[in-house]
Amino acid sequence: MKNFIPEEKVQEILERVSIEQIVSRYVSLKQQGQNYIGLCPFHSEKTPSFSVNPSKGLFYCFGCGAGGNVFTFLMKAENYTFVEAAEFLASQAGILLTDNKLIKKVDKEKNFLIEINSLAQKYYHYMLMESSKGKKALEYLKNRGISSDIIMEFGIGYSLDDWDSLISFMKKRNVPPSELEKVGLISPSTGNNSGYYDRFRGRIIFPIYNLNGLIIGFGGRIIDDTIKAPKYLNSPETKIFQKSKLLYGMNIARDEVRRKDLVILVEGYMDVIAAHQKGIKNTVASLGTAFTAEQARMLKRYTDNVVIAYDADEAGQEAALRGLSVLHENGCKVKILTLPDKSDPDDYIRKHGPERFVHCIKNDAVHLLEYKLRIAAQKNNLDTIEGKKKVLDFIIRDLTEIDSLVEREYYIRLISSKLGVTEQVIAAEIGKYSKSLQNIGANRDKKATLRNNSKEKYLLGNSIQYRVERFIVRYIMENPQKIDWFQEVVGLHLFQISKFRLIIRSLIKYIETNKVSDGFNFKAFILTLPEELQSFLPEILNTSEDTYSINDCVYIIKNNWYKTQIESLKKEISAAEECEQREVVDSLVLNLIELQREWKK
Ligand code: CTP
Ligand code: MN
Repeated sequence: MKNFIPEEKVQEILERVSIEQIVSRYVSLKQQGQNYIGLCPFHSEKTPSFSVNPSKGLFYCFGCGAGGNVFTFLMKAENYTFVEAAEFLASQAGILLTDNKLIKKVDKEKNFLIEINSLAQKYYHYMLMESSKGKKALEYLKNRGISSDIIMEFGIGYSLDDWDSLISFMKKRNVPPSELEKVGLISPSTGNNSGYYDRFRGRIIFPIYNLNGLIIGFGGRIIDDTIKAPKYLNSPETKIFQKSKLLYGMNIARDEVRRKDLVILVEGYMDVIAAHQKGIKNTVASLGTAFTAEQARMLKRYTDNVVIAYDADEAGQEAALRGLSVLHENGCKVKILTLPDKSDPDDYIRKHGPERFVHCIKNDAVHLLEYKLRIAAQKNNLDTIEGKKKVLDFIIRDLTEIDSLVEREYYIRLISSKLGVTEQVIAAEIGKYSKSLQNIGANRDKKATLRNNSKEKYLLGNSIQYRVERFIVRYIMENPQKIDWFQEVVGLHLFQISKFRLIIRSLIKYIETNKVSDGFNFKAFILTLPEELQSFLPEILNTSEDTYSINDCVYIIKNNWYKTQIESLKKEISAAEECEQREVVDSLVLNLIELQREWKK
């Protein structure tokens, strides 16, 4: 398993960190007897129903039912994966999770690259603000309405229109070109004598920060739109810069996103900057690339609610649709805003002001289905039967996934009026589609039962599991007063063979309704069994070749159960890993750890 944290480490973490200390960073806790109580961070409430029990290391909310240990808490509060939570907690407790030499080496190199970036940022910023050569760039920004405050806040700069001004600046600071190349600030050349040239020339420079506010890369915009060059240029992928993993502005926006419980997702640098300047600080950008699951998970640390406000052009709409499905798959509630007149948020805010923009976010953003309907309607000719069918096909799956009848009715009505098809027909199409899904499901179930049966056949006969279960059944039949012990210590769930399970279940029922203290009436009991077991039971009671002790049997049956559970969990984990369902993996890993811990008891 990838990134597996050894169980001893998990234990060590649980022992060394105090849950109330971690939780109190999010919740103001008050001691009450043995516990601490406070307002639940996972749902909104006015009277505290959230409690932390330090001795058990657990938290629980009586309001929303959230509960667990310190790992679960961080996974919920920060949307950490299990491994991320472990890493965070380990660092808090001074526990090393992996080979520290390796980590130190990697960290050192990364830190150095980040230092280079931050030196470069200072240089670019100085050129914009202080140098006469940066005047044009500063003017450009002022013309676009960008204030000095926001230039400072976002650390914006300017790269001179020379081939090597950054190279020579860095030389004076003893940073060799080979290091600059590693962060993608310069590229090798055959032309000039230094062997390298500056990547960013004559561009407004937008430093790109990670969540912790460290500069990991740059974006640069030309200041003269008539020049034949790409409008934007970004740092290449480096050891510290991966575009698919970051959201521009997140380091500044995160607190506001949490407070507002909403994030506005835009496409570009200028959209983020314009929004922040006008006080709409829960805005971040995906920087014009396809939205990824990693970005979705990052957002989910702070909120589930996303409004996508991409550019209104065709590329923007396509990107919005993709982003929408990635976010939806990762459990976010997504709406999409299409601004009028093909404007992007920056244009719109400048033209109409921030209040109108916020109004649009609140009132004009639509859910998945409505957006898809709109897109499909634009692309197909609704006057033809073919066109109507295509639109309906495009949205039918989303339609059947709506559980709320009220909501479903709303959409059926909307689609009906848009397509000119009666509501009955749409309802019938939904029915047809659901039925086809059920058929697929039924086939799957059938296969699953087949698999289970064959598993049981395999267990029949001489397997240890079979003999052990048989022994326990015989023991209970001979000592019916032990049924309470059985339920407490053994438990029916450990039984894998349905016949034995059925016998015990019937016995439990029988004992509940008949007093056995007066003597167990075996004949009366046997008559309560299904016919095929009525002859089976005497048969097994008469087999006595097994010479186990009852304690051995309990030990074996428990062991077998844990083994099969752990095995199947591991299979599920690797299946989930293959599908890159990281959240599923994490929760399964948590189960696995619990299970392994129980087993060892
Ligand atoms: N982008 C890019 N390379 C390009 C064009 C765009 O990397 N050649 C990315 C940038 O991150 C940009 C985003 O896609 O911010 C959105 O592109 P666009 O809408 O064209 O840029 P704006 O942010 O609107 O820039 P401006 O308003 O300055 O034209
Ligand atoms: Mn723009």
